[in-house]
Amino acid sequence: MIKEPAMNFEKKILCIGAGYVGGPTMAMIAFKCPQYKVTVVDINCERIAQWNSDDLPVYEPDLSEIVGACRNRNLFFDTDIEKGIKESEIIFVSVHTPTKAFGEGAGMASDLQYWEKTARDILRYSESDKIIIEKSTLPVKTAQAMEYILSSSNNAIHFEVLSNPEFLAEGNAIKDLENPDRILIGSHDTPRGIKAKDVLIDIYSNWVSADRIITSSIWSSELSKLVSNAFLAQRISSINSISALCEKTGADIKEVSYVVGKDSRIGSKFLEVSIGFGGSCFKKDILNLVYLCRHYGLYETADYWEGVLRINDYQKDRFVKNILNVMFNTLANKKICLFGFAFKANTGDVRESPAIYVAQRLLDEKAKLVITDPKALENAKREFLGINGDIEFIENPYDAASGCDAIAVITEWNIYKELDYDRIFKSMTKPAFIFDGRNILDHQKLFNIGFNIYSVGKQALSIFEKSR
Ligand code: NAD
Ligand code: UGA
Repeated sequence: MIKEPAMNFEKKILCIGAGYVGGPTMAMIAFKCPQYKVTVVDINCERIAQWNSDDLPVYEPDLSEIVGACRNRNLFFDTDIEKGIKESEIIFVSVHTPTKAFGEGAGMASDLQYWEKTARDILRYSESDKIIIEKSTLPVKTAQAMEYILSSSNNAIHFEVLSNPEFLAEGNAIKDLENPDRILIGSHDTPRGIKAKDVLIDIYSNWVSADRIITSSIWSSELSKLVSNAFLAQRISSINSISALCEKTGADIKEVSYVVGKDSRIGSKFLEVSIGFGGSCFKKDILNLVYLCRHYGLYETADYWEGVLRINDYQKDRFVKNILNVMFNTLANKKICLFGFAFKANTGDVRESPAIYVAQRLLDEKAKLVITDPKALENAKREFLGINGDIEFIENPYDAASGCDAIAVITEWNIYKELDYDRIFKSMTKPAFIFDGRNILDHQKLFNIGFNIYSVGKQALSIFEKSR
């Protein structure tokens, strides 16, 4: 039991849900606002124990320093949800909102059971008025459902619901939180709604300038979050779709992407070709958007956004089919090393990582897999619990690649750019192949070493292609 310092804090803030969003966002508030007491609670005791240890449950550059600076000073991680609700006047809800896996809307709609349980906990334990802040990403109009639940008791307590979606990207969370492009606060246009909104503006104003704090209606706020993710994913699918055309025509996707991005109206970000986007949110949020559109009878809009997901699946499928095709149409007993398993660099998160799909398809072809990743190996192991297949997990990339027929670059970790590929080539079975799913390696140099190089949206550099 951690003894809390006897301080008079200006505000008491609670966050329900100590995950990738709840932990870092609350750590940033505590770091920037020592005058507030910030408590993060979770039903998962193991997760809370990790937040209270030196081995945090989430890997993010600079996160451990921020947590270390304020933990047990004004930042607390706890399992006592009842106490947290009773003592706090401001409650962020940051529980997960995965795609529903059962019943009506299965595979499309958001599963709101975790969200609803927190609403019921708040109602059950509250003894005074509260501001409830939606931090999770939710379908538009969820605040209304929250309000219905919170007003279902005949106690005199008032709950004012705000929407404050989070825009941080994993691997960059601390920078995004410290210097956000925008903070979005949706509120009701009522005296109580405006008062609650001002309280939240006050909190962010401790470190975010006023021009970056945007206010809107709750419904616009909820929808803007879904649409922001859909637009980001759409850019990736756009460039990935063109990579297929580049491979057919001899154009180079890096050059095309550079030229397109130089138009200041388009901008250069999020035009990096890949084997498809991963992560816990893009797919689920687009599915949710598509589901909402169909619910309202907007079939053309739904189909348009669903296309972003179709291209993402196509891109992953193309990558695997190319490996099979290039390696003489059989992968049985061939050893393939996956460089990276995280869904992007600088995170240990593997949720919806394209690596999962690629690995499963390679196993289906009876390939032997060696998986390496600097931060995601433990999460990768968990993905394969109970799955049959010849898989090894090796942290050192040199040991991982040794004896393999091919390397597939899945995650754009910087370390893969800096390896001694002469040494790796010597240790591999010949002919040795590299499939660079992120176009991060020096292809000409690797070809000169002796590798056969296949990338995304570029011509292959391979002795087999020349003889075709
Ligand atoms: P997560 O799964 O990492 O964390 C959610 C946590 O909530 C878990 O630890 C879970 O045990 C806890 N929880 C669930 N029900 C609870 C309950 N009733 N009481 C207490 N704790 C409970 O999820 P996450 O990645 O942090 O995402 C949370 C939300 O934020 C999602 O809606 C997501 O779409 C959104 N979001 C995520 C990111 C991201 O980068 N991961 C970025 C922006 C927005
Ligand atoms: C994304 C958004 O960027 C955040 O703003 C948002 O808050 C978050 O989703 C969320 O709601 O969860 P995140 O998924 O953490 O953040 O990471 P991104 O940097 O967006 O990358 C997502 C995927 O797209 C990764 O697999 C990445 O490798 C891929 N990607 C990204 C590309 O393939 N090409 C690019 O140009 C950029």
